[in-house]
Amino acid sequence: MQGDIERVLFDQPAIHKRLDEMATQITADYCERELTVIALLAGSLMFVSDLLRRIPLPLNLDCLSVVSYHGKAQTSGEVIFKQDSFPDVADRDVLIVDDVLDTGHTLSAVREKLEGVKPRSMRAAVLLSKKKQRAREVDVDYVAFEIEDEFVVGYGLDFMERYRNLPYIGVLRKELVAGSQK
Ligand code: IMP
Ligand code: MG
Repeated sequence: MQGDIERVLFDQPAIHKRLDEMATQITADYCERELTVIALLAGSLMFVSDLLRRIPLPLNLDCLSVVSYHGKAQTSGEVIFKQDSFPDVADRDVLIVDDVLDTGHTLSAVREKLEGVKPRSMRAAVLLSKKKQRAREVDVDYVAFEIEDEFVVGYGLDFMERYRNLPYIGVLRKELVAGSQK
């Protein structure tokens, strides 16, 4: 698995240091309000668990399972929600947590879906944001790291469901990504 990684972008200490800062900011911004966190699975699993343990606010956690990739390295643009019922976020202060902002399709679709339930406020936090032109513009309030437009894995992020358990975030070797797009 390690041999499939071209280079490490962020190791565990770097991730944790940045999450300390991000959690401090979120805690200050929500100051004593009760947060409703909506984590997008499975990619944000490690991120949300490390982030929430650093936020000393009353909060509740719901998870949504969303697919847009269908096992490939390029998004199809179609966002599929894997559950029939959605968390009731009416009048709540919602924070959506996702792993990576790429084309923007996923986060836009989730925002649209939840806006329909009329939350009191809605913000989004992502671990990674790729510097690129997005297919759909979407507001993100908290970004841990900005990265180039490369395919990355580890710390929750997968390629064809593998590599989520790597403790760091790394760039996947290009030939592996290219091989999946034939
Ligand atoms: P978007 O809908 O294109 O913004 O993509 C968001 C979703 O695509 C993320 O939640 C990830 O599941 C997946 N994704 C996008 N880029 C990467 C990557 O570099 N590595 C792993 N998954 C990615
Ligand atoms: Mg994902």
